[in-house]
Amino acid sequence: MNEIKNALTDYAELHTGGESRVLAELREHCYAHYEDSSMLSGFFQGRVLSMLSHMVRPDVVLEIGTYLGYSALCFAEGLADDGKVITIDIQEDTNKVARSFVERSEFAKQIELHLGFATEIIPTLPETFDLVFIDADKPNYSNYYNLVFDKVRPGGFIIADNVLWSGKVLEADQDDNTIALHEFNQMVQADNRVSNVLLPIRDGLMVMSKN
Ligand SMILES: C[S@@+](CC[C@H](N)C(=O)[O-])C[C@H]1O[C@@H](n2cnc3c(N)ncnc32)[C@H](O)[C@@H]1O
Repeated sequence: MNEIKNALTDYAELHTGGESRVLAELREHCYAHYEDSSMLSGFFQGRVLSMLSHMVRPDVVLEIGTYLGYSALCFAEGLADDGKVITIDIQEDTNKVARSFVERSEFAKQIELHLGFATEIIPTLPETFDLVFIDADKPNYSNYYNLVFDKVRPGGFIIADNVLWSGKVLEADQDDNTIALHEFNQMVQADNRVSNVLLPIRDGLMVMSKN
């Protein structure tokens, strides 16, 4: 079963449009220099995020969890003219790398990098968001959802990454991150202010549209 799944994943990647040179270099840089390279969205999910952004054509994207800037650059590809991606992270060292790749990209003027705790920065942002990507510390997923909700325009989207947590959401004995993600999934499922679909892509993407 796993062999078929892996072969189909390879087939899907082979029949998915390519990424920019900057994104390919960023991915290679990450795999060569970072032990926690699985944090980066990666090629296939990156193409999905870029496609979703092209479909929404957002004026403003908020991303919670920049890491090396890979997903921010993917979202930037679909921005409306003069649109922007605001991205937040607490890690100074990875943020410097993200900034250097953003500056080399064609989106240098459209990506705003903020350094600090997302729970402190989000309330200070005056913008209304067309699309929010939640991809930072798992225990705060529900807090991030509640913090951004009123700042998302009606008809706007919230996407949360890693909601399957390598399948651990199915296990009986769950650690704190798994419990937080399972509670987040249940909260979204019960929230009639959104329409939601959990896409089993990579580690699970919860895609929500605000009614
Ligand atoms: C999974 S990585 C983000 C990956 C990135 N979105 C991508 O797909 O390429 C998670 C990031 O969240 C950041 N983070 C963790 N806790 C945070 C917090 N409280 N506020 C802001 N960022 C946080 C980490 O420093 C890390 O860089």
